[in-house]
Amino acid sequence: MDFQINNNSENKSLLDNEKKEPRLAIHSFHRYYGKLIPAIPSAFIKKYTNEGDLIFDPFSGSGTTAVESLKLNRNFLGVEINPIAQKIATVKTSPLKKETLIILNDRLLEIIKNNDFEICETDFPYVQNRDHWFKDFVQKDLILLKKCIDYLFDNDIGENIENKEQYKDFYLMVISAILRNVSNADTMHVFPGISKRMRRLEEEGKIHIDVIASFERAIKKRATYYNYTNHCCKANILLGDSTKIDLSQYKDQVDLIVTNPPYISSVRYIETLKLEMYWMEYIKSSDEYSCLAHQMLGNDRLQKKEYETIELTPYAEINSVISNMETIDKKSAKIISEFFLSIEKVIENMSLVLKSGGKVVIKISDSKMKKVKIETGKFMTLIAENYGFVLHDVFLDEINNNSRSLTTARNTYSDIITNDYIIIWEKK
Ligand SMILES: C[S@@+](CC[C@H](N)C(=O)[O-])C[C@H]1O[C@@H](n2cnc3c(N)ncnc32)[C@H](O)[C@@H]1O
Repeated sequence: MDFQINNNSENKSLLDNEKKEPRLAIHSFHRYYGKLIPAIPSAFIKKYTNEGDLIFDPFSGSGTTAVESLKLNRNFLGVEINPIAQKIATVKTSPLKKETLIILNDRLLEIIKNNDFEICETDFPYVQNRDHWFKDFVQKDLILLKKCIDYLFDNDIGENIENKEQYKDFYLMVISAILRNVSNADTMHVFPGISKRMRRLEEEGKIHIDVIASFERAIKKRATYYNYTNHCCKANILLGDSTKIDLSQYKDQVDLIVTNPPYISSVRYIETLKLEMYWMEYIKSSDEYSCLAHQMLGNDRLQKKEYETIELTPYAEINSVISNMETIDKKSAKIISEFFLSIEKVIENMSLVLKSGGKVVIKISDSKMKKVKIETGKFMTLIAENYGFVLHDVFLDEINNNSRSLTTARNTYSDIITNDYIIIWEKK
C-alpha cells in the first residue's frame, strides 16, 4: 500500500469549490460536536452517484450526510449508537411540512399561554445534580412545555395530523436544542460546565432566561428549515452499533459511503450532550450513561481490569504500535487495539453493503497518544485492503473554523491531532 498524500488532488479542488456553496439552515437544528461539514457529502454525492441512489453512513451522528443525501434526491441509510443523535438526525430528515408546522406552532403557543397543568415530583426527569444545572423555574417551564406538547398531540389537533409522531418529535427535539441555552452551563463551552464567566454574569444580574420565549423563537425558526427537499427519497437512520449490526439485507445495495468515524480517544461525544440526554430521558441513570459511553468507538473510560489483556489485530504494522504503546502506557495500548479491532468490523459491514465499484469517502485524522503518532488513516486503509477496497485518493483537508471549538475539546483529552484527511477507497 502506498499511502501518500496527493497534493494535486482534483477531489480537493472539487471539495474546496463546494465549500463556497451556502449551507442549509436545517444543519443548525441542534448542536452536535464532530459534525461533518456539509460540503464533504455534497461534493462526493454529486460526483459519484445519481438521483435515487443509496448513500450510507455507519456513524451518522446528527445526520449531515443524511440531510445532504435528501437535498440531492438520494436515499440514505445510517447507523448511530447514540439515541439522541439518531433522533436529531431523524427529525432533520423527516418529511415535515412547513405549513403544518406553522399551524401546529400557533396552536401549541395558545395551549402554553392558557395552560393550567400541575407539576408534581414524578414529572422531574433524573438528571445527575439537576439543581446545579437548572434553575427551579427553568425546570418547571421545561416540564410544562413537554406537557403542552403531549396535550397537543394526544388530546388536541395533533390527532388529525398525518405522521403525528414525527411532528411530536420535532417539538421534543426543539426542547433539546434550546436546553443548553436555558441551563446554568456556559454555552461557549463544548462540555457542560459552569464557568467563572457565567458566575460573574449571574452576580451582575446579566443572565435573563426565558424558557417559553426561547422555545417560541426556536420553533418558529426551525419551521422554516423544512424546504430543502421534496422528500421523493427517504432517510432511514438505524439506532445501533456499527460494529455489530446485521446489515445483510442491504448487501450490495449501497452506491456510496460518506462518513467521519470518531477519533481514537478524543472527544467524548456523549459527554457534550449529557444534559440533553438526561433531560430528554434518553438515559435514566448514571449506570445507563456509563454503559452507553462504553459501547462507543474510541471510548477511553477504561477500568484497570479492562486493560489487563490486550488483543492484537491481524495487522503487523498496527500491532507494532500497540506493542510499543504497551511499554509506555497499557491503557492507551488497549484503547488503540480496541479502536482498530472495532473499526475492522465496521469496514467489513461497509464492504458487505457497498456495490462493486462504489466509493467510500472518509474524513479522519491522525492522533497522538503519549506523544506517539497513530496513523489512523493509513491503518484504516491497510484494513480496508483486506476487505476488497483499493486506495483511490487521499488528500489533506484543513480544519475549518467551525470546528475550532471541537479541536480545543479534542486536545483536552488526547494530544493535538495534526492532520485531517479525506480518504477515498474504491470497492473492487
Ligand atoms: C464524528 S461523529 C459523526 C458526526 C456526523 N457525521 C454528523 O455530521 O453529525 C461520530 C459518531 O459516531 C457515533 N458512534 C460511536 N461509536 C459508534 C458505534 N459503535 N456504532 C455507531 N455509531 C457510533 C458517535 O455517537 C458519533 O455520533
